[in-house]
Amino acid sequence: MAILPIRKVGDDVLRQVAKPVDKITKKRKKLIKDMIETMYDADGIGLAAPQIGVSERIIVVDVGEGPFALINPEIKEASGSEIDVEGCLSIPGVRNYVKRNANVVVDALDEDGKPVRIDAEGLLARCLQHEIDHLNGVLFTDKIEQVEDEEKV
Ligand code: NI
Repeated sequence: MAILPIRKVGDDVLRQVAKPVDKITKKRKKLIKDMIETMYDADGIGLAAPQIGVSERIIVVDVGEGPFALINPEIKEASGSEIDVEGCLSIPGVRNYVKRNANVVVDALDEDGKPVRIDAEGLLARCLQHEIDHLNGVLFTDKIEQVEDEEKV
């Protein structure tokens, strides 16, 4: 396994819409292992492939219940609303409040290509939304502004 350099805000790859994964190759399985290693090394709870310079729809997550990878994750249902503090390994030193759905249902493939459905709440729901945003070129700092705007109304 290898610890990969994490791309920081300002890097174009963080603003690209990542490509769907068509095939789970050995190379991509190794990439997933390296992403998990990199996430732990940086004390993160989630990491998206664009953050290590790969513009593909792959995320890894561990909110304290063990690591897992999701490939081509899609939010199928979202409900409720919660505001809490977030940070991002690509934006060191910044933490702020972000409004997220409290519950999400996410469909994806696991690292063996098997379809999985995750019914998430709390921190896991927040983490999944944050990481899936990365696959669409969205950073949490984009959403702080929206929350502040709403508060001003
Ligand atoms: Ni992030």
